Amino acid sequence: MRTQVGIVGAGPAGLTLARMLELAGVESVVLESRTRDYCEHRIRAGVLEQRTADLLRELGVGERMEREGIVHHGIHLQFDGERHRVPLSELADGRTIVIYGQTEVVKDLIATRLDGGLPLHFECPVESVDPERGIVRYAGGELECDVIAGCDGFHGVCRSSIPDGILRRFEREYPFGWLGILAQVAPSMDELVYAHHERGFALLSLRSPHLSRCYIQVAHDEDIAEWPDERIWEELQRRTALEGWTLREGPVLEKGVTGMRSFVAEPMQYRKLFLAGDAAHIVPPTGAKGLNLAIADVRVLAEAIVGGSLDRYSEECVRRVWRAEHFSYWMTTMLHRLPGEDPFDLQLQLSQLRYATTSQAAARSLAENYVGLDLV
Ligand code: FAD
Ligand code: DHB
Repeated sequence: MRTQVGIVGAGPAGLTLARMLELAGVESVVLESRTRDYCEHRIRAGVLEQRTADLLRELGVGERMEREGIVHHGIHLQFDGERHRVPLSELADGRTIVIYGQTEVVKDLIATRLDGGLPLHFECPVESVDPERGIVRYAGGELECDVIAGCDGFHGVCRSSIPDGILRRFEREYPFGWLGILAQVAPSMDELVYAHHERGFALLSLRSPHLSRCYIQVAHDEDIAEWPDERIWEELQRRTALEGWTLREGPVLEKGVTGMRSFVAEPMQYRKLFLAGDAAHIVPPTGAKGLNLAIADVRVLAEAIVGGSLDRYSEECVRRVWRAEHFSYWMTTMLHRLPGEDPFDLQLQLSQLRYATTSQAAARSLAENYVGLDLV
């Protein structure tokens, strides 16, 4: 088999790239190791930056997002027993964020691809890629490509096919993780709440008017079996408590623990192979950047493929990647309890939080990063 662009992975990066190429008249084949059902139900991110939402609209896959997505103009930071609103739109040129689950973005992109009769093969794990010759090998055969798009996430095969000595790797692991739940209950807040608390970080988010998504900081190797639903709600109640306000509880539909890491591999390209999204970089989730970065990469990649000038792909991506890395690291270290911390560390966090919510300049910086800067 031959194609112009072989896309490994049907996550947000691979699927968005395929759609951009389709609209530009470039042929591609998407190979995905998992089932369609698995890809459509893997609960992950929920916050779309304005430019991500704009791109999905431009690509003609934004119709359901327009109907069901919830536009937010601010977030709250809670610390020291008080909640402070950061008016994102006011501070960042009117830009907004849209709450729309990654599962929904993926469903919309998959449906559009398959409705168009275009090649997207599930349960087709790629075994190896040859960046020199542009060959993608899978169980049933080989795909010869002008360009290979490595959109296969952090644990995929593409990054490791680059010979030793080419990539520089930058990495930081955090000694904690997030326990996340999806609950069948109306959100208790109309905007997200990021809470700093002596018992650890907590986040209140949502997926719809009837579905809440909440997270609490736990150990990185926390055993989910130790967390019956009542214990999770009790912990969320304590960490987000505020006088005159109640956190509504409801049946827990899904729960899981995610580790946290920062990671960048540079350059994001080698010969005919171009890495995009989690295949090239990971951020801790505190800034809600992972999905947005993945989509920002493939916008650059699609334009480079269509324009026939791929040399500067990595260079064009990494500045934005490092900005998001810094912002995610900053949010993470400001809001979580850090094992081994002393009272000095705690005071620094609280001072930073006070500054971010009282200084117009500091709040603007947070807002610009949160909604997604165009220039970095
Ligand atoms: P992925 O979504 O990982 O897609 C890669 C695809 O490649 C997958 O479908 C995979 O099955 C496929 N694949 C892998 N290997 C092969 C192979 N050999 N052959 C064929 N296909 C292959 N970000 C946030 O902003 N907020 C969050 O709350 C959040 N929560 C997360 C929770 C978890 C458990 C994880 C893992 C990530 C989370 N993220 C979150 C990050 C965000 O979801 C990712 O940044 C985003 O999914 C990146 O998209 P991607 O397309 O690059 O990679
Ligand atoms: C969600 C996840 C995040 O990492 C974040 O910062 C905000 C919201 C969510 O899943 O809704």
